[in-house]
Amino acid sequence: MKINDNRPIGVFDSGMGGLTVLKELQAILPHENFIYVADSLNLPYGDKTEDQIIQFTQRIMDWFKQQDVKMVVLACHTSSAIAHASLIQNAAFPILCSITPIAEHFKNQSRHIGIMATQRTTQSKVFEKYFLSHNNDHKLVSLACPEFVPLIEAQQIDTIESSLIVQRYLNEFLDRNIETLIFGCTHYPYLKKMLEKLLPENSFLTFEDPGFYLALKTSKTLEELNLKNNGLNGATKFYSTHAPDIFAEKIKFALDIKTNVNLVKA
Ligand code: DGL
Repeated sequence: MKINDNRPIGVFDSGMGGLTVLKELQAILPHENFIYVADSLNLPYGDKTEDQIIQFTQRIMDWFKQQDVKMVVLACHTSSAIAHASLIQNAAFPILCSITPIAEHFKNQSRHIGIMATQRTTQSKVFEKYFLSHNNDHKLVSLACPEFVPLIEAQQIDTIESSLIVQRYLNEFLDRNIETLIFGCTHYPYLKKMLEKLLPENSFLTFEDPGFYLALKTSKTLEELNLKNNGLNGATKFYSTHAPDIFAEKIKFALDIKTNVNLVKA
């Protein structure tokens, strides 16, 4: 029997990166209610230790539990790479990892893949582990792009300075002749337009955003677990662990909506 489960879905990221995933989720699941949390206080996660990332993310999961969420989408790839395995140990709800859905998507297409990610994600080799466990013929190269998150959080995505930085990282991948470049950090899709402009004219390189595959996986999992909300159109509430007004400006920039952001003390 189909039930109407209108409890919210928690969506988590260290900052504004996960808004790129939220957009995909809202498009695919218009009837669901979402609670988006940005851990702005501890951003960036990419240069934190594994213990810190597990601790920060666990605190947010404990807070989500108080909010009675029915599922959590761990949009943040750094948290997915480092903390997902430990978070699911005693979780009261399903927690979806951001990396497995795109690895599953590419299982039948052997590719020469580049992965742009944070330092911690790159060091963890989790993208390599998941992609190769589905298809051993992939060739993968992952490189850390530590300068990207500060640029994006400062909304510097179309300046000459930022294009020089982005070109430098892009060249590293172009030199390695990859076919597909994956945004291994939720922040990086904000740079897609710039990256496309910086590509040489004869390049066939394509960009892939794991957020799309994660949203599809979320929909499928809700269906399988009979957790869908089939009622009225859903709503989204936004929270930040620091400076909610500043985060509201970032939401305006990313989603073009004016909204209230609450402070969460997790
Ligand atoms: N946006 C996050 C990710 O997907 C992490 C960015 C950061 O806080 O360093 O990995």
